[in-house]
Amino acid sequence: MALTPILTAHWDEADSFTVAGYTRHHGYSAMRQALTTDPDAIIQLVKDSGLRGRGGAGFPTGMKWGFVPQDGRPHYLVVNADESEPGACKDIALILANPHALIEGVVIASHAIRAKRAFIYIRGEVPHAIRRMRAAVAEAYAAGHLGTNIHGTGIDCDIEVQPGGGAYICGEETALLNSLEGLRGQPRLKPPFPAVAGLYASPTVINNVETIANVPYLVRNGVEWFRQFGTEKSPGFKLMAISGHVNRPGVYEAPLGITMRELIEHAGGMRDGSRVKFWLPGGSSVPMLTEDHLDVPFTYEDMAANGTMLGTATPMVFDQHTSVVKAVARWLHFYKHESCGKCTPCREGTFWVTEIMHRLEAGHGQAGDIELLLDLCKQIAGKTFCPLGDAAATPIPAALKYFRDEFEAGMHTPADELFPPAAAFVGASA
Ligand SMILES: Cc1cc2nc3c(=O)[nH]c(=O)nc-3n(C[C@H](O)[C@H](O)[C@H](O)COP(=O)(O)O)c2cc1C
Ligand code: SF4
Repeated sequence: MALTPILTAHWDEADSFTVAGYTRHHGYSAMRQALTTDPDAIIQLVKDSGLRGRGGAGFPTGMKWGFVPQDGRPHYLVVNADESEPGACKDIALILANPHALIEGVVIASHAIRAKRAFIYIRGEVPHAIRRMRAAVAEAYAAGHLGTNIHGTGIDCDIEVQPGGGAYICGEETALLNSLEGLRGQPRLKPPFPAVAGLYASPTVINNVETIANVPYLVRNGVEWFRQFGTEKSPGFKLMAISGHVNRPGVYEAPLGITMRELIEHAGGMRDGSRVKFWLPGGSSVPMLTEDHLDVPFTYEDMAANGTMLGTATPMVFDQHTSVVKAVARWLHFYKHESCGKCTPCREGTFWVTEIMHRLEAGHGQAGDIELLLDLCKQIAGKTFCPLGDAAATPIPAALKYFRDEFEAGMHTPADELFPPAAAFVGASA
C-alpha cells in the first residue's frame, strides 16, 4: 500500500510552517468556506466522514462535537498536544512542520461547536514546538485568520498556546483541563464529561492535534474524498511515527489499513541483520504483537481482533537483540513515575509491579513472581480512576503471552546476559 502524503505533503519545503507556505497550497481556503457554512452542517460533515480521534481512543469526532449543549454558557475548544506517551512522536512533528493546518482546523472546529476561544496545550518539554506554534498563531492573527470578525464574517476566534505541566497524566483530557486552570494535573471524575462541564465548568471539546489538523482537508475535499482512504470503520489517513530498529525511523503518512510489513518497507526495512521480534502498534499503552502479526491491517477493528489497539498508530519495532523483560520493565518504570497518585491500585500497583520487573531484569526473580505480576495487573486493570492504570496493566500480560520463557529466565539470568546490549549495536552497524 502506497503512502498518502496529505498533512505531510509539503513538509520538505523550507517555509512549510509559515502562512505564505501554507497558503500556497490552498491553506485557509477551507476556513473561508466553513465560516459561511451553518455550524451544524460542519458537524454533520465530520460525522459523515467517520473521522475518529487520533489521540488514542478513536472516539468519533463528529459525535463528540454534537454533544456540546447550547445553553448560553461560553464554549471552549482545547487541542491536546501533550504527546508524552513513549513511542508517540507525530503531533509535535506536525506542529513544527505544518502548524497552520492546526490553526485552520481550530477556527473551523470552534465555529462548528460555537466556541470563540481555543487553547493549544503543548507538552512543556518541547519549547521549540511551543515557540513554533506561538509564531504561527501570531502570523495568523496578522493575516486576519484569527481574532475578532475574521475576514468580515462576524465570527471571532482567539487561540492561546499553553505550555504543558510536564507530566504524562496532563495528556489525559480532564487532568489537562485542571492543568490549564492552574490546578494540579490530576484527572477529574466523569461524568460530567467535558462536553457538558469542561474548562471553567463550561462545555468543552478536547481533541488531538492530528484530529483537528484533518478538518481543513476534509472540509475542502469532502466526505467521499476522505472515505476513499482506509476502511468503512476506520476511514482516512494517519500519521504513523515509526521508531525502533528500522533503517529510517520517522513520521510516515499512510491510509488506515496499511500493514506493519508495508510500513517497515517504507521505513527502509529492518536494520541489517535484524528481524522483527515484537512491536507495538500505537505507543507503550497497547499490547505488543510479534512477527506473526506483520500483515494485520492498521485499523481499529483489525487491531482489536488481534488482541491489541491502534492507539496513536505510532509503532515501535524491536529486533531479536531486545530483551522483552527489559523493555517492559522500562515502560512500567515510566508508568510508576507518571502515576499521579490519586488512586491506590495505580499508585501502589505500579510501584510493586516495577519492583518485580526490576528483579526479573536483574536475574533475581523469585518463585511465584510471574503469577504475582499477573495478579497485580488484574488488581489494577479496570479498577483505577483513569486509563493510565489500565495502560500500566497492559504490557505484562501481552509480553507473557508471547515471551514467557524470558520471564522465567529472569529467575536466574540477568536480561543483559541473555541479550547483551553490545549485540544490539553490532546489529545496528552490521
Ligand atoms: C495518561 C493519558 C495520556 C494521554 N495523553 C494524550 C496526549 O498526549 N494527546 C492526546 O491527544 N490524547 C491523549 N490522551 C487521550 C485524551 O484523554 C483524549 O482522549 C484525547 O485527547 C481526545 O482527542 P481525540 O478524540 O481527538 O483523540 C491521553 C490519555 C491518557 C489516559
Ligand atoms: S489511574 Fe493513576 S494516573 Fe490515573 S488517577 Fe489513578 S493514580 Fe492517577
